[in-house]
Amino acid sequence: MESLEVEAGESSKSVEVLNQLWEALSELKADRSSLLVNVGGGVITDLGGFLASTYMRGIDFINFPTSLLAQVDASVGGKTGINLGHSKNRIGLFQEPLFTGIWNFFLESLSQVERLSGFAEMLKHGLVSDKNHWQELCDFSVLSEHPNSALIQKSVEIKSEIVKSDFRELGLRKILNFGHSIGHAYESLSLEKDIPLPHGFAIAHGMMAEAILSSKYLGLPEKDMNEIVFQMQSKFPEIPFDYEADELMDFIKGDKKNIEGKLNFSLLSSMGKAEFNVLVEEEDVINVLQFMKSNA
Ligand SMILES: NC(=O)c1ccc[n+]([C@@H]2O[C@H](COP(=O)([O-])OP(=O)(O)OC[C@H]3O[C@@H](n4cnc5c(N)ncnc54)[C@H](O)[C@@H]3O)[C@@H](O)[C@H]2O)c1
Repeated sequence: MESLEVEAGESSKSVEVLNQLWEALSELKADRSSLLVNVGGGVITDLGGFLASTYMRGIDFINFPTSLLAQVDASVGGKTGINLGHSKNRIGLFQEPLFTGIWNFFLESLSQVERLSGFAEMLKHGLVSDKNHWQELCDFSVLSEHPNSALIQKSVEIKSEIVKSDFRELGLRKILNFGHSIGHAYESLSLEKDIPLPHGFAIAHGMMAEAILSSKYLGLPEKDMNEIVFQMQSKFPEIPFDYEADELMDFIKGDKKNIEGKLNFSLLSSMGKAEFNVLVEEEDVINVLQFMKSNA
């Protein structure tokens, strides 16, 4: 068995690192019967899955996700890929691992920041599909302890169930993008500014903004919108850099989910229920971004 290591951090999800890994596999004489074992956070499961799926037209891989975010989200559902410059997950493909092993003990060494980052995606699973899960998570003291296996399992089940009905994200799976149109823009801007922003923090801020849009576009009750904003604000720190709404809009307009130049979001109609392919006006997004900035 041989091991390959990559630097921690989003910058490893790049074509340069991928190229080094392809060459390393080739030098190690990996062949089509080789098995790639990905041990790490979402960067590793995304990058390693893509590496395995493209080397020699695809070799088998298995995942041992070690961060909470990778356990409940990145390693579930078969999306693999890398970033193109500052554009998140622009290059990738759908390929399921042979096996995914989720072990709670990995989380013992995880920092509070990384725990919160994963927790954001768990909250999202509750918001888009299961109000009880959302409530359980809101009652959980994530600032002081790791979610237990039962909560992790529930989150994995919610995502797996959605993915099962729409592996290639042609319909229902798009609801998992709630918070991501705006969240990915924060994340891309953090890459551009070279100021780290954990994935889940970006998505939490995206969910706040998109909850406000949900109220306007799908009639999400104001009480629910306020609860979402309150929960996100009380758990997640502010965006760690200054920005203009226009800078975020450049990324939002380039989002791969958009249809014929129209901004295409997944939004909530109620707590635990989401809709996809909601076309949103640019002006409304700018207003929400400006509101978020002035209320930070
Ligand atoms: N494929 C998908 O469906 C999907 C879904 C969500 C997110 N993602 C991707 O996942 C990535 C984010 O995942 P992440 O938050 O795990 O990032 P990450 O892989 O960068 O891990 C975050 C940090 O935690 C460290 N770490 C990981 N496991 C640890 C452990 N057990 N103990 C101590 N430190 C540990 C890592 O070294 C890193 O510094 C992003 O690139 C995002 O785009 C993919």
